[in-house]
Amino acid sequence: MTLLTGVGWECKGPLQEGPELALLPAEAQSGETCSHFSQGFGNVGLHSIRYLHRFGAKCVGIGEIDGAIYNSEGIDPKQLEEYKLQHGTIVGFPGAKPYEGNILEADCHILIPAAGEKQLTRVNAPKIKAKIIAEGANGPTTPDADKIFLENNVMVIPDMYLNAGGVTVSYFECLKNLNHVSSGRLTFKYERDSNYHLLKIDDKFPSQVARAKLGSKKEKYFCSYEKVQILNDRIMQPSLCLLLLITIHFLYLPLQGASEKDIVHSGLAYTMERSARQIMRTASKYNLGLDLRTAAYVNAIEKVFKVYNEAGLTFT
Ligand SMILES: NC(=O)c1ccc[n+]([C@@H]2O[C@H](COP(=O)([O-])OP(=O)(O)OC[C@H]3O[C@@H](n4cnc5c(N)ncnc54)[C@H](O)[C@@H]3O)[C@@H](O)[C@H]2O)c1
Repeated sequence: MTLLTGVGWECKGPLQEGPELALLPAEAQSGETCSHFSQGFGNVGLHSIRYLHRFGAKCVGIGEIDGAIYNSEGIDPKQLEEYKLQHGTIVGFPGAKPYEGNILEADCHILIPAAGEKQLTRVNAPKIKAKIIAEGANGPTTPDADKIFLENNVMVIPDMYLNAGGVTVSYFECLKNLNHVSSGRLTFKYERDSNYHLLKIDDKFPSQVARAKLGSKKEKYFCSYEKVQILNDRIMQPSLCLLLLITIHFLYLPLQGASEKDIVHSGLAYTMERSARQIMRTASKYNLGLDLRTAAYVNAIEKVFKVYNEAGLTFT
């Protein structure tokens, strides 16, 4: 769970709103049409590509320590993960061609340095073509490079925000350990029963169909199908029977209470989207333009000040 760095959520957040977006090219303002390159296909690289892929962005190139690959149509992260597990490298992946250029200087909307520190320096910063740099790694941009990016209207989503998903989820785990109870355990049944009650499922369908929802997918289908068959034998036409089965599948699947995974995902998304909005607001308030790093620092310092102030502590 802690490996879930949240880079996907965090790229999605700032890409959704903020007046600073007007400074970026139109196609880069939508996360959905973005192409991106990633330096590094380790924990951060893989999971950020997976989430961005899920949100509709296209990973066109990946650079690793022993070589780089490229596919303008997009690289499937799942297939690449399986290939890397089998072969120990991304080189030779059949879903892409070898990439000869410098991955950091590739033509794309988003560049994700997800390998290590000090990769973007004053030497290569002027050659970077990406309009958004999503700092998956810690400290991939030197201060000199940062200044060049600001001058060139390149949006750098800072590491202290962007890769904080890992520590955020670690904090959720810490809370779970302190409470000695997993997230959702206390509310799962209540939520599910409320949802069923809301739609008065028992009035419409035999309770066995509802109960079958609790079992495995296979068991659910079997029980539901069995029940529908009985209904069918008694009152229904085959076409109606099929319609009922489809309804059961699509209507009642989301009625279960939220699982621990659902809660962690939604807690992470909420935290990251809220932080993104706060950083954007701070950038606007102090007229910082695309300097989201300074905005993130100001935001953090203001929070510390507020807590100290409310607690009656003074700075010396
Ligand atoms: N794992 C996390 O939860 C997490 C969270 C926040 C930040 N980070 C930071 O992200 C960075 C990467 O962490 P990770 O956990 O993914 O590490 P990792 O070791 O799993 O992955 C790094 C990958 O980058 C590749 N690599 C190294 N140097 C490279 C280079 N010059 N060019 C291309 N590829 C190169 C490595 O071969 C490796 O596959 C680190 O800076 C880390 O501090 C990690």
